[in-house]
Amino acid sequence: MSQGHEVFGVRRRSSSFNTGRIDHIYKDSHINEKGLRLVHGDMSDASSLHRVIYQIEPDRIYNLAAQSHVGVSFDEPEYTADTVALGTLRLLEVIRNLGGKDAIRFYQASTSELFGGQAKGILAEDSLFDPRSPYAAAKMYAHTVTKNYRDAFNIFCSTGILFNHESPRRGQTFVTRKITMGIAKILQGSDMPIYLGNLDAVRDWGHAKDYVEAMSLILESDKPDDFVVATGIGHTVRDFLLLASNIAGLKVVSEGSGRNEVVINKQTNKIIAMVDPRYFRPLEVNQLIGDASKIRKTLGWVPKISFEEMVTEMVKHDIELLRK
Ligand code: GDD
Repeated sequence: MSQGHEVFGVRRRSSSFNTGRIDHIYKDSHINEKGLRLVHGDMSDASSLHRVIYQIEPDRIYNLAAQSHVGVSFDEPEYTADTVALGTLRLLEVIRNLGGKDAIRFYQASTSELFGGQAKGILAEDSLFDPRSPYAAAKMYAHTVTKNYRDAFNIFCSTGILFNHESPRRGQTFVTRKITMGIAKILQGSDMPIYLGNLDAVRDWGHAKDYVEAMSLILESDKPDDFVVATGIGHTVRDFLLLASNIAGLKVVSEGSGRNEVVINKQTNKIIAMVDPRYFRPLEVNQLIGDASKIRKTLGWVPKISFEEMVTEMVKHDIELLRK
């Protein structure tokens, strides 16, 4: 929208309001201004996708839709496959049926989860894929079929293989926001520790703002292609937790190991975080760190917001949110 585009978001039907994270940019369709407009549609309903695309006639489609929680995909594997894998195919079929090589440019949100279990060292576009969850397996299909449609039907389809990207708008069941909200609640007087799974998992966390810029560069580039988007720096979940606690002014130490590890607030002697095996995943991806050399060299993308700045923003946001 800041680039002058008219933006439509597709939302699925829900009996309760679920637009809290975008309400500040949402424009009611009665207001005749350029802004975000929302239309109903569902990745599992091809007819709705067909109708939406025929009515709006978009120049660009960003497919960010998904059941995107890796852990939940083990509990809802069929729904995950339907929305992530077949949903992508449904969108591509509409574009294909519309014909015209340059009619619509399509961006597919691929993921570092594609690298999965074999992930060793720093991962680039040509590193081995080894998906380790129903979510990653479905994303693997979506990634592959996007490339197929590019090659077979000459459609402008690109993929961004994005490593984890966070911001204060992150959903609260993902580990970064779960931690920052948990700390904010503790500062408000809560005695409830933050229950976490694998504290040793290493992720390459960048800021969502930087990654959205990468997505736009990918789709506006001269030719369709696949790009890793990452910072190249890994941190453990424990690193994130300790840094966020320090930023919030808590003096914390980690004690014990494995399932018995706890993080204690030395000022109060209370446990602020502990391991709960319920949050372990049936298959864990231990480490994901990306090599974004290709997008840096080809499209000039570099992340501007550091890990420390991102964690600080998230912690301050959640403290302020609960204070209100
Ligand atoms: N969610 C969660 N909750 N994760 C935990 C917890 C916990 O209590 N404790 C430890 N973790 C670990 C997970 O096991 C994982 O190794 C890491 O923290 C990050 O988990 P998430 O924040 O849930 O993200 P993700 O890495 O599984 O997936 C996210 O990033 C992918 C790559 O960009 C999602 O946004 C995916 O949709 C995305 O594809």
